Amino acid sequence: MRVIKSIKSIRTFLKTIKIKNKRIGLVPTMGALHKGHLSLIQKSRRENDIIILSIFVNPKQFGPKEDFTQYPRQEKKDELLAKKEKVDIIFYPSVEELYPKDYLTYVFVDELGEKLCGQSRPNHFQGVTTIVAKLLNIITPDTLYLGQKDAQQVIIINKMIQNLNIPVKVKTCPIIREPDGLAMSSRNRYLSSRQRKEAPILFQSLKSAKKRIQKGEHRSAALLQMIQSNIERNSSGRIDYLECVDNQSLNPLKKITSSGMIALAVKFGSTRLIDNIEFKIK
Ligand code: PAJ
Repeated sequence: MRVIKSIKSIRTFLKTIKIKNKRIGLVPTMGALHKGHLSLIQKSRRENDIIILSIFVNPKQFGPKEDFTQYPRQEKKDELLAKKEKVDIIFYPSVEELYPKDYLTYVFVDELGEKLCGQSRPNHFQGVTTIVAKLLNIITPDTLYLGQKDAQQVIIINKMIQNLNIPVKVKTCPIIREPDGLAMSSRNRYLSSRQRKEAPILFQSLKSAKKRIQKGEHRSAALLQMIQSNIERNSSGRIDYLECVDNQSLNPLKKITSSGMIALAVKFGSTRLIDNIEFKIK
């Protein structure tokens, strides 16, 4: 496994790989790797000759009051985990190289970035699409691996790739959860022990809503009401958003007629957790 830190070095290395026609998979992350990230790496390992794991805590996707400086950084531990999963290259770019002082260019996907998480994180998705576009330009992988945990992120990145004609395939991997159902996240470590005990209520509520959909409850308002009261009765979590949306446009669905997802963000103290569940009816 090589650790490469500069754009020039990774481009030089990739030139030698591309001549040999090898398939390249990219797994972009912000580090603090857990089993959710590892599942993306494993899928990429099965499907490619060379896999590149990028680790970059991207300042442009954090708001001024968010946790950019506190975001966990654990280079050595991540390197060991990556080596175990047979990652070929870890790409660790620097903020200075990716965003020099005179940096002015942003990639912005209209409309979609303002919904759901965008309501309380106004420039977040512009930061995400900008860094992902830059990584795709630097690495030019055949396939990009993303997690369904960040469902809105997947939808927005897919739209960017389609609209900008970026020649890359996207593979979305299922949400990896703790045994009690809590979606794995680097931010779970911020939860107090009481909050950690309460947090599985998010997935439990989403799961029981999906069961109700399958049993014939297709009115979103009734489903969302059930989830809301379940969370409020059983935890100290404060709902940031809770919506039933179309999983292309992210527009709210009043009535469920085919497929969609229920997505939520809930704050436990200052820790904001997100989760979602997809559904499909005949
Ligand atoms: P990060 O939060 O580090 O996540 C990296 C990738 O791992 C994302 O595609 C995310 O959806 C996926 N992931 C995280 N937790 C997961 C889980 N429990 N199950 C399955 N997949 C999971 O998402 C980002 O970083 C950044 O926005 C990034 C795309 C790297 C751009 O900076």
